[in-house]
Amino acid sequence: MSGLKILGTGSYSPEIIATNHMFEQIVETSDEWITSRTGITNRRLVDQETNLQMMGHACQRAIDDAGIAACDIAVVICATVTSDYITPAMATLLQRDLGLSEEVLTFDINGACSGFVYALEVAHALLGKNEGKYAVVCAGEILSRITDYQDRTTCVLFGDGAGAVVIGRSDDNPYAFRAGAKGDDSFLYCKHPVATNQHPFARAASVAAEDYFVHMNGQEVFRFAVESISKSVSELKLELELSDDDIKYYILHQANYRIIDAVARKLKEPSAKFFINISEHGNTSAASIPIALDEANKQGLFQRGDKLIFAGFGGGLTYGSALITW
Ligand code: ACO
Repeated sequence: MSGLKILGTGSYSPEIIATNHMFEQIVETSDEWITSRTGITNRRLVDQETNLQMMGHACQRAIDDAGIAACDIAVVICATVTSDYITPAMATLLQRDLGLSEEVLTFDINGACSGFVYALEVAHALLGKNEGKYAVVCAGEILSRITDYQDRTTCVLFGDGAGAVVIGRSDDNPYAFRAGAKGDDSFLYCKHPVATNQHPFARAASVAAEDYFVHMNGQEVFRFAVESISKSVSELKLELELSDDDIKYYILHQANYRIIDAVARKLKEPSAKFFINISEHGNTSAASIPIALDEANKQGLFQRGDKLIFAGFGGGLTYGSALITW
């Protein structure tokens, strides 16, 4: 069995809604600038909640939606750049919180905003060794923890949230995947708190405080996103011998509605085929595709057999695209 079937979806967004007008109070910006340049109106932010709690809610909702037994889950992979711990992995703690069997392979991956699509591919491959079992693929981010709320060029963009899917292998659901990486730590980066070049005994961090926040050259990322997504999406269609008409929906990483619009124009596809929810969530990095997927699913947009394309891009620089059959 080489195909991939999504059996259930789930998502979770924290309660606090941060509006564009709130950002007008903390940085030199305007609702008009943010809306017209990004498509963002609101984003959801955590207060006391942890990433693990958000991921737990999203995964439980996906498992309930799939209607499968927890004992049939063989793999859990979490994509995140904002784990609560360096160790243990979020996926490992979800074994406990979701009441899964101990016979489960659990780990986290860091694929930045491509992380969900990367995790989907890895889970699909691992399920090949687990006949009749399922995988939970989750992505959750608390980007507010790595955002500099004095930097107007980034702080208006990001939000927090989690999304998850339950997948299984299936011959009836053709699947294809493309990914790539272009090693670069100048256009988009956030240094790790353990990144220091001082002797361990010195104990003082040599990384400047501002380096712990996300830094981004928005225009370079914008260019990379449009090029890499358009190319990989075209390759996916070729691989499965599909035409534009065969694709029901595109669910792209929700970083900027103008990126989605530019991809739609480059692919010569109508914008109505691109599901967009950035207005209410902002950019939630790896979590944005599974949150959008869950919202679209709950709106009843998909019929059995529909072909969907997911496409992520971001830190790395990385991109990852998947074509799935609903
Ligand atoms: N409010 C008001 N003005 C602002 C703001 C703000 N929040 N932010 C920037 N500006 C100003 C700039 O300072 C600049 O002013 P200047 O002309 O006087 O120098 C002007 O607006 C234009 O800035 P640009 O950077 O050219 O604006 P652009 O149209 O490129 O939009 C944006 C910036 C929204 C970041 C866009 O480039 C973008 O979305 N890039 C892609 C980002 C992305 O995809 N990230 C994904 C990976 S990151 C992750 O997911 C974790």
